[in-house]
Amino acid sequence: MQGLSKAYGEVQALKGVDFDVAAGTVFGLLGPNGAGKTTIVRIISTVLKPDGGRAEVMGHDVVRDAAEVRYRIGLAGQYAAVDPQLTGRENLRLIGRLAQMPRKMAVARADELLERFGLSDAASRPLRTYSGGMRRRLDVAAALVQKPPVLLMDEPTTGLDIQSRSELWEVTRELVAEGSTVLLTTQYLEEADQLADRIAVVDRGTVVANDTAAALKARLGSTTIELGMENEDLALSAERALADLFADHTEREGDKVRITSSQGPMALIDVLRSLEGQGLAPVGMSVREPTLDDAFLELTGRYCHADDLVHEGAICYGE
Ligand SMILES: Nc1ncnc2c1ncn2[C@@H]1O[C@H](COP(=O)(O)OP(=O)(O)OP(=O)(O)O)[C@@H](O)[C@H]1O
Ligand SMILES: [Mg+2]
Repeated sequence: MQGLSKAYGEVQALKGVDFDVAAGTVFGLLGPNGAGKTTIVRIISTVLKPDGGRAEVMGHDVVRDAAEVRYRIGLAGQYAAVDPQLTGRENLRLIGRLAQMPRKMAVARADELLERFGLSDAASRPLRTYSGGMRRRLDVAAALVQKPPVLLMDEPTTGLDIQSRSELWEVTRELVAEGSTVLLTTQYLEEADQLADRIAVVDRGTVVANDTAAALKARLGSTTIELGMENEDLALSAERALADLFADHTEREGDKVRITSSQGPMALIDVLRSLEGQGLAPVGMSVREPTLDDAFLELTGRYCHADDLVHEGAICYGE
């Protein structure tokens, strides 16, 4: 992907986007509403032509060799071509048939995918009776009917509960273990962290960071652990107990002690051990992971999301 640009009328949605995805990996496009994620996905899936720059999928240009590209990608997301009146099984078989698969093969492939996505029990129910999570799994299954080597997923888990989200993560990992290449967009830092080998952070149509999940997280700051102690004296003792391990990262405010760590939640174990060693027991505790907002502030110096800029009255910090 090189220098990709795209405008919708007045709105410059992409302003020169560059990135490469290594085969057999998960690449995460992370960004807030309006950043340009869907526009990128639509260009790669040949639905939309770029104004400038170029994009290739496995050596095929998305504009010149659109048919070759379409043959190699599966698209799951806002545009999945499924019919809510048909059952899960009927939908998957239909997609196979439309792709000129022999009937027997389409039937077998549908059942194989229903099984893999945990939808066998619901296979004979119309899609309109599916829950959000089931529906999303069927969307991804639909994208996989033709066994494409490259899978594009546009915000596959937005709005799903934690259970459905981790189920989708699990299947994604399995697919990649079998050799698929996945490009996924998300608004969740945690999701990109969980799945992606590399993450590009997209903001207002440009890539503001492109790194491994670990490197990005190290840059994006820290897990915050806040302990509530019974009184100020105990809080002082706790602060002292933690000073060895977290010297520059411990602060106290009244009966509260705050620790920041770049080791992620693992720091919690060290914190609790140190306290236990001194016979100190907190009466309250919270752990906060860095969010996309934190990442944004760090990378762009502002909190506000791209689309907020066009909405009047939006509050933008540091703008
Ligand atoms: N068809 C369109 N016509 C006009 N403007 C558009 C159109 N589609 C997208 N945009 C604008 O282009 C920019 C990028 O949109 P895009 O849908 O790619 O963002 P996104 O990162 O996918 O956001 P979201 O997380 O909300 O899905 C936004 O400012 C959006 O308002
Ligand atoms: Mg989008």
